[in-house]
Amino acid sequence: MRILILGAAAGGGFPQWNANNENCRRARSGDPATPPQTQSSIAVSADGTAWCLCNASPDLRQQIEANRPLQPSPDGPRRASPIAAAVLTNADIDHIAGLLNLRESQNFQLYATTRVQGTLAANSVFNVLNPDYVHRQVIKLDTPFSPLPGLSVTAFAVPGKVALYLEDRARDDFGTQSGDTVGLEIQDTASGRNFFYIPGCAGVTPELAERLRNAPLVLFDGTLYTDDEMIRAGEGVKTGQRMGHISMSGPQGSIHAFQDLRVSRRLFIHLNNTNPVLDLSSPERAAVEASGWEVAMDGMEIAL
Ligand code: MLT
Ligand code: MN
Repeated sequence: MRILILGAAAGGGFPQWNANNENCRRARSGDPATPPQTQSSIAVSADGTAWCLCNASPDLRQQIEANRPLQPSPDGPRRASPIAAAVLTNADIDHIAGLLNLRESQNFQLYATTRVQGTLAANSVFNVLNPDYVHRQVIKLDTPFSPLPGLSVTAFAVPGKVALYLEDRARDDFGTQSGDTVGLEIQDTASGRNFFYIPGCAGVTPELAERLRNAPLVLFDGTLYTDDEMIRAGEGVKTGQRMGHISMSGPQGSIHAFQDLRVSRRLFIHLNNTNPVLDLSSPERAAVEASGWEVAMDGMEIAL
């Protein structure tokens, strides 16, 4: 199984258009210690020919141009794409806006939970995906499905919340229901190898910990290093918890939560532009790596 890291950054990307912090300034100046990253998405293939996108980021067009396996084969027909399926983990802008790049009457299967499919159906701009070609499939939680020959995917609910633009401010839980945010377990059916893709997650519950225990590979929510990072940076009023994201550090953080789970390979993905680990020379980056984690970067490929 091949896994391409198409985009390692959270919503807004790195640098983000209106973010003027030190991280973003250095990224814009071409500082090699702060390489720019596009918005969060991966692509997976069992055979290296047909590919499944996990989320469709607003940077998808750029990501396809940066990843040869996702481009039409030079000896293929005049209209062709190796992208045969897309699976969505929630309805956040950074995970669905790229679907608009996939118009032009090209066949693919589009998998998401009832809640996320409902959001797409309620937004008529997505009708640009011609239903004669784009087949919207509802996925049931904890029920494996096969988006491509040789791949099995199981979606499971993780702590999170509805997308920002769907929040019901009058409610404590913002109207969040099971299926608004999911994690994916992806298995190569021939080799039996599996990994987890969880780009948004508000906490590691005991149930999630048991699911991930002994996993060979987990790509996990790396939005923030500390919960109040955006507030301290003067760039927002929300904590990570309020945004539906567990932070990396601290006693409530993901590094601590994974400590005894024996996950062979752990990578953070979906990094917000304020996260100090985006700076390769930062002490936080060194601390993350010393604790056994890697940080995903655009252009990485993992063979499993
Ligand atoms: C998130 O991951 O919390 C969202 O992508 C935030 C947003 O939509 O800006
Ligand atoms: Mn996001």
